Amino acid sequence: MQAMQWEGDSLLLLDQTKLPTKVEYLRCTTHQMVADAICRLVVRGAPAIGVAAAYGMALGALEYKGTDKEGLYTYLQQVRRTLAETRPTAVNLFWALQRMQTKLDNVKDKPVAEIRAALTKEAQLMEKEDIETNRAIGYYGNAIVPDQARILTHCNAGALATCGYGTALGVIRAAHEAGKGVHVFADETRPLLQGARLTAFELMEDGIPVTLITDNMAGWVMHKGMVDLVIFGADRIAANGDTANKIGSYSVAVLAKENGIPVYSAAPLSSIDINLCTGDEIPVEERDPKEVTHLGGIQVAPSGVHVFNPAFDVTLHQYLDGIITEVGILRPPFERSISAALAARATSTTS
Ligand code: MRU
Repeated sequence: MQAMQWEGDSLLLLDQTKLPTKVEYLRCTTHQMVADAICRLVVRGAPAIGVAAAYGMALGALEYKGTDKEGLYTYLQQVRRTLAETRPTAVNLFWALQRMQTKLDNVKDKPVAEIRAALTKEAQLMEKEDIETNRAIGYYGNAIVPDQARILTHCNAGALATCGYGTALGVIRAAHEAGKGVHVFADETRPLLQGARLTAFELMEDGIPVTLITDNMAGWVMHKGMVDLVIFGADRIAANGDTANKIGSYSVAVLAKENGIPVYSAAPLSSIDINLCTGDEIPVEERDPKEVTHLGGIQVAPSGVHVFNPAFDVTLHQYLDGIITEVGILRPPFERSISAALAARATSTTS
């Protein structure tokens, strides 16, 4: 199952708003189409949003009609702003756009055709690296998964939320591939049902045993001793380990703590925002009230009711036993383990 594919100077996106009943692809030929697709959650999940935006920059370069490199550079600044305004919480979006900007700055004096080729190549490289990163997350995460583990997850942090393999579901996949006989409890994840529509679908496609529960069942399922481990993804992690993820993740983590169940977040280092000291500073996207008042197009709440619809919450670091990354599992105190991991990464990329 691939969330995106670069094909013939266009970006094919698996339309995740239609899953699980329809498998349809949207062909994006302009950066604006990619931006709209990100806003509408055709493509979603932090790493996938980042790489889709990178391809959006590449499309911006291809769609530019002029032949002068200065004009292209100016045009791409507008393209970048448009893509950056799509969704505020997943830091991977801004990380990916910054990486594309750095590439652009490196090649801006080359002929237009070379700039276009370089941007496309960079986005393709990011796609490839994302899959490798997720496999590494799976490798390290597998170490904390006991045999026969029953694992609860929230939202979708799988192949569909990335360029392949997944983060939280990457760990689950690795444990499944290692023959550990894992079983997944997937929270349905209101309001947009990423757990029911996407996680259950993705795991069933791969033959990984899954039981779907509604969000309000999670506490009871834990209390009944049916869960050994909680793993979810991340959209942005602050320097102290506070972790923004899909709304409901915080409740799951608190319930797990109460029931003595370990909780891990699985995410690439690109999900860490070292500029933010705590989760209080993470911008939380608020979405259309209709996502709450309507279910599958059917109105389920009185017209005009006041709605609060934050798309994410922040799990405070004290509820996390670890953050599973592509360089290993970061443990508390997270200030120290996070800065050490980022410093080691910076040294390895400069040497
Ligand atoms: O609103 P979404 O569907 O983009 O939210 C996705 C999540 O919250 C994921 O858990 C997170 O991005 C991690 S994806 C590997």
